[in-house]
Amino acid sequence: MEKREELYAGKAKSVYLTDDPDRLILHYRNDTSAFDGEKIEQLDRKGAVNNKFSAFIMQKLEDAGVPTHHEGLLSDEESVVKKLDMFPIECVIRNITAGSLCKRLGVEEGMDLQTPIFEFFLKNDELHDPMINEYHIRAFGWADDEAVEKMKELTFRVNDTLTRLFADAGLLLVDYKLEFGRYQGEILLGDEFTPDGCRLWDAETRKKLDKDRFRQGLGGVVEAYEEVARRLGVDLS
Ligand code: C5P
Repeated sequence: MEKREELYAGKAKSVYLTDDPDRLILHYRNDTSAFDGEKIEQLDRKGAVNNKFSAFIMQKLEDAGVPTHHEGLLSDEESVVKKLDMFPIECVIRNITAGSLCKRLGVEEGMDLQTPIFEFFLKNDELHDPMINEYHIRAFGWADDEAVEKMKELTFRVNDTLTRLFADAGLLLVDYKLEFGRYQGEILLGDEFTPDGCRLWDAETRKKLDKDRFRQGLGGVVEAYEEVARRLGVDLS
């Protein structure tokens, strides 16, 4: 597969076209950003760790019946994926209170929720990804009802699969964000699943092992991601 021009550079990944119109190359960079790009740093090894981490998780999800865009690892920091037509929407599930939910509702961090909370957000940095609901999605035509139902179903299936996978590694899956797109009519999970886009705590100590270490200046960011990867059995070599 031949790498062609850059299609898009996000905050932590660059996306390249290839000689195959249906395939893209994702390059996971070391850039780490928070607060809509206000805080940006280069963290050694993060690109490679996240690339291998996401590939591992996507494979586990495929095994559990969640179709994903992932095709395979290309190099330490690059993967090949199917080219999706992305919905401009983020799907979030929360199992334990944290982050924007605490701010919005004035609740303390770390409460176990009685049932998971599902939320939609609009992907729009300038507007700081505002929360939306199914009526907004329908009214603005961001996705049809069938797609909305499918995204919810798949996001919950991811929760069942990954809550168990992380629990077996002594980790709590606090919350996470997913993005979906369409490929030849089918809805597939796109983007990535890494500690940049979820919250993971040690089940015993509740130590944060995700991007909150960066957001909150706690240090040891990549070391925490590597610790999670090691516990899951991700091959980082
Ligand atoms: O900030 P908030 O608490 O709403 O985030 C919920 C989850 O979604 C967190 O795990 C966060 O890392 C992830 N997220 C993300 N990208 C965004 C917004 C949230 O990965 N733009």
